[in-house]
Parts: sequence; C-alpha cells; structure tokens
Amino acid sequence: MSSVLLERREGGIALITINRPKALNAIDITVIDGLETVINTLSSDTSIRAAVMCGAGGKAFVAGADIAWMRDLTPIQAETFAGRGQAVIDRIASLPFPVIAAVGGFALGGGCELAMATDMIFAGPDAKFGQPEVKLGVIPGFAGTQRLVRRVGSAIALDLCLTGRMIGADEAFTIGLVSRVVEGDVLEAALKAAGKIARNGPVAVRLCKRAIHENMDSDLKSAAAAERSLFGLCFATSDQTEGMAAFVEKRKASFTGE
Ligand code: CAA
Repeated sequence: MSSVLLERREGGIALITINRPKALNAIDITVIDGLETVINTLSSDTSIRAAVMCGAGGKAFVAGADIAWMRDLTPIQAETFAGRGQAVIDRIASLPFPVIAAVGGFALGGGCELAMATDMIFAGPDAKFGQPEVKLGVIPGFAGTQRLVRRVGSAIALDLCLTGRMIGADEAFTIGLVSRVVEGDVLEAALKAAGKIARNGPVAVRLCKRAIHENMDSDLKSAAAAERSLFGLCFATSDQTEGMAAFVEKRKASFTGE
C-alpha cells in the first residue's frame, strides 16, 4: 500500500492521505516520494478546485519525520533529506488551488511543518501541535523555524521550538497557527470548506491564493500593486462576467473556470 493516497471526491476536491498509521504517519522517503507523485498528478489537473490533506488511522496527522529511519543518516544524507522535504513542502504551498490540512491528533515536527505548507489548518478537538526536534538533539529541518516565525512571530516560535512543548487546538488557534478549531469531525469540516471554496469562481480563488502567497514577504506598496494587476486580470475571465451577471440577475453563478 502506498504511503500517500490520492482520492478524487465530487466537485473537484482531492483528498490526500498520509498513510503510515503504524508509525503515526511519520515521514520517511516513501512519504516524500508519494507526495511528489501526488503533486505531479494534481498540478497538471485543471479540474481540481481544492484539496484536503489528512493522516490515516485517526491518531495522528503526521508525528514528524521518521526517527527510526533518520537516526543513522550521515550529515550529507540528513541535509539531502531536509532538502527534499523542504522542496516537496514548497511545492504543496505553491499548488495553484487551496489546500486545507485536517489535523486530528499529532502534528509534530515535520508534521507541523507539512501542515504549515497548506493554506488553512483545521484542528480537531484532539489536535496537538509542536516542534519537538530539540528533544531529539536536532532542529526542525523542513523549514519549520521559518514558516512558524512568519506565522506566529518570534516570541511564540522561539517558545515552541526551544521548549519542544506540545500545544492543543485552542492554543494553536489563539496564536494564529490554525484557521479553525472544529468540535466534530475535522475531516468532514475540511471537506465541507473545500466544497465551499470549490463553488466560488475558480480563477478568482487561484489568483487570490497567489496574491497572498506571492506577496506576503514584500512591502505593502509593491504587494498592493501586484494585487491590483491580478484584480485587473480577473476582468479578462468569463468567471467575472458570469459572477457579476448572476449577482445582478439574482441567480446562482455557474462558473467554468475560464
Ligand atoms: N518517527 C518514527 N516512528 C514514530 C514517530 C516518528 N516521528 N512517531 C511515532 N512513531 C511510532 C512509534 O515509534 C510507535 O511505533 P511502535 O508501535 O512500533 O513502537 C508508534 O508510532 C506509536 O507511537 P507511540 O507508541 O509513541 O504513541 P504515543 O501515543 O505513546 O505517543 C507521540 C505519541 C507523542 C506522538 C510519540 O510517538 C512521539 O513523541 N513521537 C515523536 C514525535 C517527534 O519527536 N517528532 C519530530 C520528529 S523529528 C522531525 O520531524 C525533524 C524535521 O523537522 C524534519
């Protein structure tokens, strides 16, 4: 059985499952390979409107990089592994459609880093986040120090990375790591949100994701200029014509994604 499963759901939704439940979905090279294959398939599929990522087994999203697999790596092999992990995580962040991480149970180390590559993290009531690498005598290697500091600021990023402590869903929401805390079934909630996204104008959704991701490290003036151009680009699409016509005609829009 593959370490990463891809399922297509109705309405252009892709479900990506990290599938090593016996090791709490820990990331070894088979998971990296599996994610690369799934990303290759999805990036060339224009019918995909949104994706949800989850972990198999109900106990963890992903409990980190696979410690048993990693422990005997040489420094060069470890750097290469981190490089491949970072590359695959960057590719997830750059997918043209939105990706939601449905986190039930542990999202630790590489698992927290993987979740941070998605556009939104939904946390179930039992979700636990952390960067516990220092407890193993290493540091985060899949760009966790950098994504975390950009997301929650240096005071909290340093607290989490230096203590290695785990935080629950509510604290993760308070610090801005997760978008929503879900009381019931987190996967169901993530699929429902993905469905809502999928019913919006597809080109607009993609451009909106780009406007945020490609410009958040720029100064406000240049970022706003980039947003203006993408706003203008929307007016070259039939989705814009249809979306505004539907509003004026008081009917539901029927978008084609063109
Ligand atoms: N790597 C390999 N195997 C792992 C694993 C990991 N990261 N996390 C859990 N497992 C395995 C356990 O070894 C165990 O396997 P066996 O049944 O064969 O013994 C199985 O999954 C279940 O785990 P536990 O029995 O430990 O379950 P628990 O409920 O008692 O504890 C846990 C759960 C707190 C998540 C604990 O498993 C744990 O602390 N895991 C390690 C978390 C961690 O340190 N992650 C960071 C890894 S380093 C990293 O990710 C570097 C990077 O940035 C790239």
